[in-house]
Amino acid sequence: MNCIQCNFEVQKEKRFCSECGASQFLLCPKCNSKSPVGKSFCADCGTSIGIAHTPIKPPASLDVDQKPTVIDESRDAIKGERKVITVLFADIKGSMELIENLDPEDARALVEPALQLMIDAVLHYDGYVVQTTGDGIFAMFGAPVVHEDHAHRALYAALRMQGHLKEYSARIGAKGHQPIQGRVGVHTGEVVVRPLRIGNGQVEYTPIGHSTSLGARLQTLAPVGSIAASEAIRQLCEGSCEFNDLGLSRVKGVTELVKVYEVTGMGKQRTRMQRSAGQGFSKFVGRARELDALKNAAMQMQAGNGQVVAIVAEAGTGKSRLIFETMTEIRATGNVLETSSVSHGKTSYCLPLIELLHLYFAIETQDDEHKRREKVINKITGLDPKLVDIQPYLLNLLKLGASDDTLLEVDERTQELRTWEGIKRLFVRESINRPLTLIFEDLHWIDDQTQEFLNLLADAIGTARILLIVNYRPEYVHQWGNKSYFTQIRLDPLGQSASTEMLGAMLGSNEQLSDLKRLIVEKSSGTPFFMEEMVKALFDDGTLAHDGKVILTKKLDELDIPSSVQAILAARIDRLPSQAKEILQTIAVIGREFPMPLIVSVTGISQDKLEKHLKELQGGEFIYETTVLGERGYIFKSALTQDVAYNTLLVERRKILHERIGASIEAVFPNSIDDHISVLAYHYGRSNNIDLGMQYLTHSGRQKLMDARKTSDLGSVNSFIKSENSDLAPESHTTVSTIDSVESIWRYPVKSMAGEQLASVFVSDKGIVGDRVYAFVDEESNRAAVVRKWAESFLNYHPHFVSEPKSGSEIPTLQIVMPSGETITTSNSDVEERISTAFARKLKLLATAPPGLLIEVPKGTLGGSLSEVTEFPLGGGAPAGAFFDYGCLHLIASSTLDHLQKVYPKGRFDVRRFRPNIVIQSDAAAFIENSWVGRTIAIGNELVLRVSIPCPRCISVTLAQDDLPRDPGILRAIAEQNMCDLGDFGNLPCAGVYAEVIHAGKIQCGDTLRFVE
Ligand SMILES: Nc1ncnc2c1ncn2[C@@H]1O[C@H](COP(=O)(O)OP(=O)(O)OP(=O)(O)O)[C@@H](O)[C@H]1O
Ligand SMILES: [Mg+2]
Repeated sequence: MNCIQCNFEVQKEKRFCSECGASQFLLCPKCNSKSPVGKSFCADCGTSIGIAHTPIKPPASLDVDQKPTVIDESRDAIKGERKVITVLFADIKGSMELIENLDPEDARALVEPALQLMIDAVLHYDGYVVQTTGDGIFAMFGAPVVHEDHAHRALYAALRMQGHLKEYSARIGAKGHQPIQGRVGVHTGEVVVRPLRIGNGQVEYTPIGHSTSLGARLQTLAPVGSIAASEAIRQLCEGSCEFNDLGLSRVKGVTELVKVYEVTGMGKQRTRMQRSAGQGFSKFVGRARELDALKNAAMQMQAGNGQVVAIVAEAGTGKSRLIFETMTEIRATGNVLETSSVSHGKTSYCLPLIELLHLYFAIETQDDEHKRREKVINKITGLDPKLVDIQPYLLNLLKLGASDDTLLEVDERTQELRTWEGIKRLFVRESINRPLTLIFEDLHWIDDQTQEFLNLLADAIGTARILLIVNYRPEYVHQWGNKSYFTQIRLDPLGQSASTEMLGAMLGSNEQLSDLKRLIVEKSSGTPFFMEEMVKALFDDGTLAHDGKVILTKKLDELDIPSSVQAILAARIDRLPSQAKEILQTIAVIGREFPMPLIVSVTGISQDKLEKHLKELQGGEFIYETTVLGERGYIFKSALTQDVAYNTLLVERRKILHERIGASIEAVFPNSIDDHISVLAYHYGRSNNIDLGMQYLTHSGRQKLMDARKTSDLGSVNSFIKSENSDLAPESHTTVSTIDSVESIWRYPVKSMAGEQLASVFVSDKGIVGDRVYAFVDEESNRAAVVRKWAESFLNYHPHFVSEPKSGSEIPTLQIVMPSGETITTSNSDVEERISTAFARKLKLLATAPPGLLIEVPKGTLGGSLSEVTEFPLGGGAPAGAFFDYGCLHLIASSTLDHLQKVYPKGRFDVRRFRPNIVIQSDAAAFIENSWVGRTIAIGNELVLRVSIPCPRCISVTLAQDDLPRDPGILRAIAEQNMCDLGDFGNLPCAGVYAEVIHAGKIQCGDTLRFVE
């Protein structure tokens, strides 16, 4: 047997083609079971599975039978893909009451058809039923097969479900049963979709993630008989469906209140263009040449030379808009009839053609059958009585009942062919009276019958006054290319100046937005739809606002990919043959561009084979060839495609690839490692080999600083600049400016254990009273308990004093709540034993640091050295005998934490990770603390500090503690944002500052901070 997609020979009994990954089975639209291609009926339920149904082709990394190429997938953690999908939960409300007092079989007879209705509605829109329960279903759209309009499909399925349930309820109601009502919840979001083998060679797909739970919760919020949808759904489907705002609801498991909408019906805007028109078009830019080509074709057609014009481009490039822009002129030439295919319409018989005929015969939704028949018959006979023979065929197609027995005499196929022929004659005859323009949009979704009609029409219009305008995406193929009256217009994305003009019209000329505009143009690569959606998303989330002019309300470093754009790109990527897709995902991890030897090394695929797949990717316009580092290489055509491909990979899989890429760079460029340091830092920093990443990162930071120094561009590396005021006399306290206030105060009674938050505290010249007064120290090695491998556990021990410690007095007893919930007390003699047992090493509780006590930190994290294990004595800038790493007070500004949170939104920049003593509420720039170094600051009425040095950060900020997960990205974000040259310590990632106390005093939350001189 040969593959139905690529014709490669497929081994007997195998379900997928080993060459292109296409499934060799058809999916039954009713029961979802698979039948071999070529069969007409499902062997399980007898439903027709004729040519209309496309084979399921699971995406590369969801296909469990696909032989892995780039990565060995034997580990569970890397199976599956991240996907944005729509989940749908539906159940029968009050099913218990419904079947109360019924025999189980009678109950089944009542409930089962309702369940089947729900399943049918999901399958009708190509959804996937994940699970059925006794009285409900859980389905998803957008996986395992990706659909760019997954949210729309889910809502259409939900509406269909509710419609059919109402009909069913009325039917059983007539028989005296209780009515049946359903509730549906729909939500769109990111999940991990994992394939699970369930025996018999069958595979099931399960979405896992918070979005799934939210979908389920929405269902419970749906009014009975109705559909509840989230804000994410509304944003995607506004216009296509009608929404009724149900306000904010508290949803279990979600911190913030959730906006809920009731979906009340279909909207008026079926196509994207209609939706765009509804929201107001952007100013039309560029496309002068293409407009001329269309106008020229219209002129030719008027002169009696029929024309076929095809506009081809990727989604969102402006095919429909180009047609729209010529409409006024084309309408002036004569009749215009427009129709389009819809993505879920491939299986709907002649949908676009029927829509076109409705327009032609002016059939309105409210017309009854009689009226419709009348309109058809009158129009045909009025046009030309000789066309009377086509009447029965057209009436039949429009489901208006044939007027005589003509159709009974011919078989179905002949009927079909005569119907197409009849419509063709009708239009050709019409064009004799008045020129006729027929517009068929989105042929990539066309059904086979409409296609057959179009082929017939295209053959016949060369000498008619008919202009056939079609548009489609590049994957569509047709057979009109060799006709002399065929013109293809290939739309490229907008160029730089047209894109800038379009954004200028949308955002105005505010200078503040120029960087943003540049970023949008770069990311969208000139695809107008992507530009529009990005701007819309920025308005939706409040980043942009209207205030007389468009303004930016907050600083923006990264652009999120709107889910509408993500859906289009993910669907494109998923249509790739499996190996090509996997290669695309792999190179997306390498970067925007990549030299050939590196791809060969990373993928481990021979150059010959690789060339073939890269050609596929080039053909699909994902990448194009270029020169990279003097070698032949490739570059992603669009940064967004790279981002989306990268985002589909599970984090674990990305980590493996990043490490492999790091190793490949080292192997491919052994003699020029220095040129690749920052790239190596980037890849290792995102891999499981964080230590190596940190080594390169430190090195990379130093290199950046040196480069910047050469060009005097210190700003670019956020350099630490020593203040000239560092030797100011502490006594002369004159306020020079106020810097915000104290947000929170923290104390850490035991070094490396969790801290306690305080409302106020006394700060002595040795720091906050009671801070780091104890440490558990390894007796043998004389090291404090901060070593990475056990610090993680230490952070989950919560110490607190039984009474407030006082400066100069004995340290009060400390209670330590262990992770088990048990409390131990420092006054009890077994405290050391309990902790030693918990950590399986002999630990001593000390209240004074012995001389030479070391702290261990991972290689290269501090000290900047690449090879040495770094250990350094405690308390460089702190009083002798204390357990401080460096200075005795540690400050951090809230603006620094906020900024880090923004640049790495997935990380949790919780104060607890940073272990500061004082968090300063500040609206100033991020890392403002760098500029405080050397300055004298007064807090409240008494305390005066001098800031000594930025606080270098090591692995400890990344550690898990209590509810915070382990997250190397935290340190990475700091390193990317704020490398500081700390002299002998090297060039290090820093956040916050250390300070020494110049004048002791009490502080409390809300106290103001002032620079004093
Ligand atoms: N030249 C242009 N100037 C300004 N806006 C444009 C231009 N071209 C397209 N747009 C806008 O971009 C959006 C997408 O355009 P359009 O719907 O025509 O894309 P398409 O190629 O038809 O996409 P699809 O394949 O998904 O149907 C629309 O909102 C449209 O108004
Ligand atoms: Mg379009």
